[in-house]
Amino acid sequence: YYSNPTFPVTNSWTTSPVTTVEVVSVTPCPSLLDSTMVNLGDVFPNFTAESTKGTIHLHEYLGDKWGILFSHPADYTPVCTTELGRVAKLTPEFTKRNCKLMAVSCDNVEDHHGWIKDIQAYNNLDGNFPFPIIADEKRELAVQLGMVDPDEKTASGLPLTARAVFVIGPDKKLKLSILYPATTGRNFDEILRVVDSLQLTAHKKVATPADWKQGSSCMVVPNISKEQAKQMFPQHKVHQVPSGKEYIRTTPQP
Ligand code: BEZ
Repeated sequence: YYSNPTFPVTNSWTTSPVTTVEVVSVTPCPSLLDSTMVNLGDVFPNFTAESTKGTIHLHEYLGDKWGILFSHPADYTPVCTTELGRVAKLTPEFTKRNCKLMAVSCDNVEDHHGWIKDIQAYNNLDGNFPFPIIADEKRELAVQLGMVDPDEKTASGLPLTARAVFVIGPDKKLKLSILYPATTGRNFDEILRVVDSLQLTAHKKVATPADWKQGSSCMVVPNISKEQAKQMFPQHKVHQVPSGKEYIRTTPQP
């Protein structure tokens, strides 16, 4: 933007103004990299988008369920083909956890339908593909959700999405986000594990330690007093450490 819309123009031989140009308006060109991140605890944008299962109005689509939106760089790419196959196979596990799934990539619905046939063939899947793939040809969601990968572009130079995962709670707020580059495929057992942790810790005053798995011991959260901990977690154990601070308190999973 120019702070003074009327400014002198000089040529390369002289510093004297040769003419005067009035800038009537300057339309900022939104950069595809000028993304805004959704922060943990924010209400997830209630976008409307086309998908392989029709138009999705996000909040309506989720209803009172948990939601998982995961992005892909592009259709007909090898890592994405393995990822979507893996999620399709794990769909019953996500359903058990009350989660609705959505994938998104920067191609159109027709391409998605064609690609689904490859995904199913390569991953030995048949029947209906279990969740929608959203079409984000214009990169509107990619920009809105901060998913653009600056290192990955189409042959014509258009940016592609990174591998993002967003877990949205039944209150429509963002509970977790993960961002991988296009060259690193995700581990969807880990996504199931984090959903288990998010759902447990949404209701119980515990946190889950490194490599925790459903059913194993948990940590009493730091803001629970000694007295509260005794009442809430009668079997909890305080671990003695050199600092003498009694902050490591384990309990069987409530
Ligand atoms: C893939 O899905 O295989 C892929 C996509 C973009 C860049 C690198 C790999």
